[in-house]
Amino acid sequence: MEVVVAKTAGFCFGVKRAVDTVYEQIETGKAVHTYGPIVHNGEVVKDLEEKGVKVIENRQELEQMDRESIQPNNGTVIIRAHGVSEEVYQLLEEKKLECIDATCPFVKKIHRIVQRHSKEGCHIVIIGNGAHPEVEGIRGWAQAPVTVVETQEQAQNFVAKEGEKLCIVAQTTFNYKKFQDLVEIFEKKGYDIIVANTICNATKERQEEALELAAKADVMIVIGGTHSSNTRKLYELCKSRCESTYYIQTLADLKLDLPNSVELVGITAGASTPNKIIEEVQNYVRINF
Ligand code: F3S
Repeated sequence: MEVVVAKTAGFCFGVKRAVDTVYEQIETGKAVHTYGPIVHNGEVVKDLEEKGVKVIENRQELEQMDRESIQPNNGTVIIRAHGVSEEVYQLLEEKKLECIDATCPFVKKIHRIVQRHSKEGCHIVIIGNGAHPEVEGIRGWAQAPVTVVETQEQAQNFVAKEGEKLCIVAQTTFNYKKFQDLVEIFEKKGYDIIVANTICNATKERQEEALELAAKADVMIVIGGTHSSNTRKLYELCKSRCESTYYIQTLADLKLDLPNSVELVGITAGASTPNKIIEEVQNYVRINF
């Protein structure tokens, strides 16, 4: 029996880079804070907590903190892959806090696009979920008007001012097809628009690889948090190609019963699943079956 782990399973480049940064900083013995949980995975956050990493939940909390409470021994504040608004950087600077910026370069690029076009007077339209921290951060780089649009209805209802130019960007994890449909609505309105497709390929590549693997596999195992929407999507895609698809959070959830006829077991994982869990599952299947 063969066990194949998808190459794109688990952390994307940006999240891996941010998580690695936190572990590197812990090694230095400094007090480490992250601005927001570094990744939406309970196991990782718990592990970091045990190693002394503190989470600054939001801007208000940061405002109330002083240098002494954050930097008892030259501590640092790490900005996660989602990025933050310009205001947060200014606040960190005002408080003279050492900051390590682990914003994903793809998100940073959106900040630059928004800042530049906003300065030139464009109305910024962010296609994405307004409550998502990444979108909040992007929003915070706009100086001119900014609108977040997630649905067709919101796009239909949008009215630009006379002679206003629009600059449209996307949340990195937004669905490409939906993005195209929304952009089309703006185009049909006859507005003068600049479109920057800032959707990141990591999610799409992970989904395509999962589909390919599921089509060949007799059994598929999808690992990720129950609240993780990208893991659920992976599960649905795999299930559509492979009837025996399991959705687990950790190895403890796996109740695998493999008949002798099984030749290939495929494994993939959502964007916030650490490598350690993927390896545990992989080793378990290899050793026990
Ligand atoms: Fe990940 Fe960065 Fe893309 S955080 S999903 S590689 S934008």
